[in-house]
Amino acid sequence: MKPEVVMIGLGYIGLPTAALIASNKVNVFGVDINPNVVETINRGEIHIVEPELDSAVASAVKNGFLKAGLKAQEANTYLIVVPTPFKDKNEPDISFVEAATKGILPLLKENDLYIIESTSPVGTTEKMMDYIYAERPELEGKLHIAYCPERVLPGNVMHELVHNDRVIGGVN
Ligand SMILES: NC(=O)c1ccc[n+]([C@@H]2O[C@H](COP(=O)([O-])OP(=O)(O)OC[C@H]3O[C@@H](n4cnc5c(N)ncnc54)[C@H](O)[C@@H]3O)[C@@H](O)[C@H]2O)c1
Repeated sequence: MKPEVVMIGLGYIGLPTAALIASNKVNVFGVDINPNVVETINRGEIHIVEPELDSAVASAVKNGFLKAGLKAQEANTYLIVVPTPFKDKNEPDISFVEAATKGILPLLKENDLYIIESTSPVGTTEKMMDYIYAERPELEGKLHIAYCPERVLPGNVMHELVHNDRVIGGVN
């Protein structure tokens, strides 16, 4: 079945978010470049330590709402939750966000929603928007593009994902 949501990056933030969405009976396809992560999740198991995440992933996978793979599939919503580390001199490295965005470029279609959740420097969302529209000019102005940085603390993620307030910035 075609997923509704594609979650790119299945780490401390992406996997709990994917499991939470899937637990609401929404089909989620998770993407990660690490084959061990993909295989572990498809067995209904987890590769990180986070309270309550094991049961959430196990039931989401068992009920067929969460699957993982190495390459993105077509969906209606794409969430980018990849690392954004620092390079030398405290300069943010958004190359993972760029790589994840490149991976979904051919899949994007009118009315799709693209959300960056990775903690990113000011201007990243517009930079990615410009990149997407440069590569797919026929879609210009026809996508929904937003930034919604994650604010949860590891150790209480499953609770905070539901109960923390969020900041959402849309470019349109
Ligand atoms: N962990 C936290 O407490 C926390 C809290 C708030 C915000 N954040 C932010 O959330 C983002 C993700 O952090 P995290 O802790 O989940 O990282 P993480 O390292 O736990 O997970 C990131 C995952 O993305 C995968 N990945 C890397 N490049 C990829 C690509 N091109 N395509 C698909 N998968 C790819 C990695 O293999 C890894 O499994 C970062 O921007 C971080 O700053 C983290």
